[in-house]
Amino acid sequence: MKLREIYQDKEKYLNQDISLEGWIKTARTGKNISFISLTDGSSFKPLQVVLDQDTKMDDQVKLNISSSLKVQGRLVESQGKGQDVELKAESLEILGESDPSYPLQKKRHSAEYLRTIAHLRPRANLFQAVFRVRSLLAFAVHKFFQERGFVYAQTPLITGSDAEGAGEMFRVTTLDLKDVPRKEDGSVDYSKDFFNKETHLTVSGQLQAEVFALAFRDVYTFGPTFRAENSNTQRHAAEFWMIEPEMAFADLQVNMDVAEAMVKYIITYVLDHAPDEMAFFNEFVDKGLLDRLHNVVDNDFERISYTEAVDLLKKSGQKFDYPVEWGIDLQTEHERYLTEKIFKRPVFVTDYPKEIKAFYMRENDDKKTVAAMDLLVPGVGEIIGGSQREERYHILKKKIEDNGLNMKDYEWYLDLRKYGTAVHSGYGLGFERAVMYVTGVSNIRDVTAFPRTVGHAEF
Ligand code: 4AD
Ligand code: MG
Repeated sequence: MKLREIYQDKEKYLNQDISLEGWIKTARTGKNISFISLTDGSSFKPLQVVLDQDTKMDDQVKLNISSSLKVQGRLVESQGKGQDVELKAESLEILGESDPSYPLQKKRHSAEYLRTIAHLRPRANLFQAVFRVRSLLAFAVHKFFQERGFVYAQTPLITGSDAEGAGEMFRVTTLDLKDVPRKEDGSVDYSKDFFNKETHLTVSGQLQAEVFALAFRDVYTFGPTFRAENSNTQRHAAEFWMIEPEMAFADLQVNMDVAEAMVKYIITYVLDHAPDEMAFFNEFVDKGLLDRLHNVVDNDFERISYTEAVDLLKKSGQKFDYPVEWGIDLQTEHERYLTEKIFKRPVFVTDYPKEIKAFYMRENDDKKTVAAMDLLVPGVGEIIGGSQREERYHILKKKIEDNGLNMKDYEWYLDLRKYGTAVHSGYGLGFERAVMYVTGVSNIRDVTAFPRTVGHAEF
């Protein structure tokens, strides 16, 4: 049986004979009695297995860390500290002996070293907790939207348009790099390529989600996105997952209401469904985590405009590496100051200068700002970027032109404004950043199973 089943109903299995498979987390061997801490991955909590002279096993048995085994015995109340039940083993069989060179021995390893053994680190406590919570968060996201009738749309990973208009895309091509066909003017001739045009990995599913929102009203995407951003930071990855709801007949206020409700919902879900893992993070990763998360769930998020944010930062007297002026893109240091020092909770910043935001955001009446919103949280900074979309045909067309984008690639997008346009809004939650926020883990590489960052695509 599985450890999870035991911990779900200890009373049922107490004083019963059971059989378990699993791996040795740690072992203490003595002359007459030995203890194994056994895990099978199905529960964060291991089970203590007690071996004594009566336990039937091979005389030569070695209890190496990470050896897989099968053990049969009786679940009894534990005499020892730290657990209320343990398994008194009647027989034990090693299924796969682990070589003594196994790197995850008891001593603590650096995060950098653990990244080099990404194929083994999921067995360590920290990653057991991270990836279980990540899985639950993904489920909670789906649950939140599905309960509200949102349609889950799967948008393409290979795209012919740049959703952010920022040019930070990975090219998809089958052309032979040694002999790329060229046009007369020297530019690459993509008509000879697989798709007969230039294509990329998607940076966001938003534009295609808008297609669905103007057909189904409330929709969301949840999938991988790719960015060739040359940012070597703790919160940027080249491959990350994004949750992108899109809603017709919804303005920026509704957008923020949904984002706030979703963040609170997924935090609550994880607090309820992974108490052991969350207690672990609170103890070993981020001491104030649980208090902070309860606070987040119980209180309204702050909402301020970009202009107010800039004023607050300027008035703070704080010396920033990057000086604050109206018009700058807020840097991580500014975002973190706002949310960690000034408000000490999540903050929506709205109505950014149009020059620093994407072409599809709706222009405000002041003609200087757009109906954008970013959600900033302590410890991470921006976790959500969203906006009300430009629904007016002519204004959007001009924006596409002014941004130097290829009109042919966006004709379908403009059609949405031609055939029954509607006020609509949406946002993108960076899934890894959400996992960082909820676990307190400070590096995106440690909440991603096989991180892809500048210079790294191992495994
Ligand atoms: O702010 P961004 O660029 O917004 C969009 O892509 C919109 N199309 C979303 C929408 O409105 N549907 O990205 C959204 C979020 C960011 O707030 C951040 O959390 C995450 O995606 N993100 C990254 N996460 C990890 N590594 C990167 N390189 C990221 N770039 C963005
Ligand atoms: Mg953004």
